[in-house]
Amino acid sequence: MVSVEIERRDEVSIIWMDNPPVNALGAALRAAILHAVEAAVQDEAVIGMVLASRHAIFSAGADIKEFNQTPVSPSLRELIDAMDASPKPIVAAINGVCFGGGLELALACDARIVTSTARLALPEVKLGLLPGAGGTQRLPRLMNPADALKLMATGAPATGDQAVTSGLADALAAAERLLAEATAKASLLAKRTVRQRLRDTAADQGTRDAFEKAAATLLKAHPGEPQIEALIEAVRGSYEVPFDEGMRQERRSFERLLVDDRSKSLRHAFFAERESGQLPGDIGSPDVIDVKTVGVIGGGTMGSGIAMAFAANGFPVTLIETDEPSAQRAYDRIASSLSNSVRRGSLSETARSENLARIKTAVDYAELSAADLVIEAAFEEMDVKRQIFGRLADVVKPSAILATNTSYLDVDAIAEAGGDAGRVIGMHFFSPANIMKLVEVVRGRKTSASTIATVVKVAQKLGKLPVVVGNCHGFVGNRILARRSEQLDRLLLEGATPEDVDRAFTAFGSKLGPCTMGDLAGLDISWRMRRATGRTAPVADALVEAGRLGQKTGRGYYRYAEDGRTPISDLEVTTLIEAVSKKQGVKRRTIDQEEIIDRLILPMINEGARIIEEGVAARPGDIDVIWIHGYGFPRWRGGPMFYAQTRGYPNVVARLKELATLTGDESLRPEPLLEHLATDGKSVAPQ
Ligand code: 3HC
Repeated sequence: MVSVEIERRDEVSIIWMDNPPVNALGAALRAAILHAVEAAVQDEAVIGMVLASRHAIFSAGADIKEFNQTPVSPSLRELIDAMDASPKPIVAAINGVCFGGGLELALACDARIVTSTARLALPEVKLGLLPGAGGTQRLPRLMNPADALKLMATGAPATGDQAVTSGLADALAAAERLLAEATAKASLLAKRTVRQRLRDTAADQGTRDAFEKAAATLLKAHPGEPQIEALIEAVRGSYEVPFDEGMRQERRSFERLLVDDRSKSLRHAFFAERESGQLPGDIGSPDVIDVKTVGVIGGGTMGSGIAMAFAANGFPVTLIETDEPSAQRAYDRIASSLSNSVRRGSLSETARSENLARIKTAVDYAELSAADLVIEAAFEEMDVKRQIFGRLADVVKPSAILATNTSYLDVDAIAEAGGDAGRVIGMHFFSPANIMKLVEVVRGRKTSASTIATVVKVAQKLGKLPVVVGNCHGFVGNRILARRSEQLDRLLLEGATPEDVDRAFTAFGSKLGPCTMGDLAGLDISWRMRRATGRTAPVADALVEAGRLGQKTGRGYYRYAEDGRTPISDLEVTTLIEAVSKKQGVKRRTIDQEEIIDRLILPMINEGARIIEEGVAARPGDIDVIWIHGYGFPRWRGGPMFYAQTRGYPNVVARLKELATLTGDESLRPEPLLEHLATDGKSVAPQ
């Protein structure tokens, strides 16, 4: 229930915001604050106000869900205008997260008192927007405009201490003194005859050069990002035009960006990420096991990364290797990776020692007898995995959960070897496992609800984004990737070059094209997967068979410069691909960027629809989260399934049919679910 409570302390009215969990500034809360402000202004016994929060955070800002709905008065701007017009001072008592519109409310106050743990940010750019309730005009009038611009362009939070140093906040207070200090400040400010409002000032012209420099740097770092361009224009306005004109300009930009597909996609990603962590409906709310200690089998790249992820979050880890030298190598690999983090400044020396102390290596499975969760990260071979699960069943306690980090193998077949299949599950981490946030949580046919819920909870404790998926070859991510890879190979066979494909992909918004990506991951990995499942990819197979495994051999779709990382076009590859086309009897032709993108992306959407129909993913948003976080799909496109929505389902369906006819590839025919979405007419435009 949204509410605002009003408390009187001496002559100051305390306005408590109470809209759990995050005090999002939805219509009801805005109306309640406005009402409280008006009441305080009317009340002759009140000389000032304090805006405070009943919750652990001050406010997460505007209610993002309302952005898709018809605006309801009072708008945030109307509320802020009323606060600005109040003859009595208002002080913000900021106790925690104070983001977006929440900070804009605070900027319209006469002072901001913060705790040292407060976090102040204007993160609207992350949603493809700019601050839309005066942030772009008040912030550069309050602090150095170049710093204000950087704060808004990164969306990164300033701590309470940093906010005081930069001038964003007025003073620090201990949490237990916050209200008293804010109340005292309001009483003090009430003694002034006139309120000093930011709207009555201008940005300091002496700071203009520094601002323009910061703006130029940003434009270079974010080419073509409309929210950054609009932000710079708006902040520049604080030098050039009166406050009210600056506000109008900010409003126009905000409204334009709000209806842009980019912002819609970013907002979709925000909610999809949160929803994906919720268990699918059929699981209910089972008991969750308290996981205290963890075992990892295999100290290769994945196993070491998984061990580091757990250790970094306080879990003692026992890492099992096949023999002492391998165990030592795994330990050394972890120690060296942690040292690199210290060198880069992302980890303190103390944290490194603590993390390392939590990891113990061993060769005897009996060392896992106390583990609550064991994750197998051995070779991607069914026999190896089944053997490990058989051994585990003999040593672990009956309540222990057994997880496999397989990226495509059948979890049910692995589970059969581990005794009680109810406690067996897939935990598909992405490399590097200590950095990448995504974990596909693969439920087997017999995996118990408690096992699923426990693993999701544990992954969340690691700061990961767990997404529950069904058991099938490649699960969600790699199953969709397989469709894209098939098309990639066909495109190369039919006339596109690796450069054409990568260029089209980066123009679409991906950081890396699929050929560069393949070279980075190693072409032998998918080659082995194809061999195991009797599939072929004539071009990729020929590259691997010619010893071109990617960056690791200095040659793949490209050859690599001496640094081992810079791709260089290779005539040998052109010759090799042309020879394969000839051998396959495929006539090469010029393929334009549009066809490249559609051939690569639309089959992913088609496969996604199949995955939804089969119930392998619970929600389309889950597929988007997997692709954004595991495979670098541009976040501002919202993931493949949301991209289909922005493109319009009828357009996607029509284009798939066209491509199926053009290529003779029947797998490109649209899935019934897509046909249905295209004809029901409801989901054509993005919400
Ligand atoms: N609007 C609507 N719902 C929000 C919200 C917001 N601004 N912020 C968070 N929520 C919801 C989440 O969706 C989630 O809902 P759920 O429980 O149904 O899944 C719930 O609040 C809790 O959120 P988190 O799970 O993210 O909780 P955390 O404690 O991990 O994080 C947070 C809290 C740091 C506030 C994080 O939610 C966050 O960063 N929120 C977005 C902040 C933001 O972008 N603000 C700017 C909004 S745009 C704006 O203000 C425009 C203005 O300039 C006009």
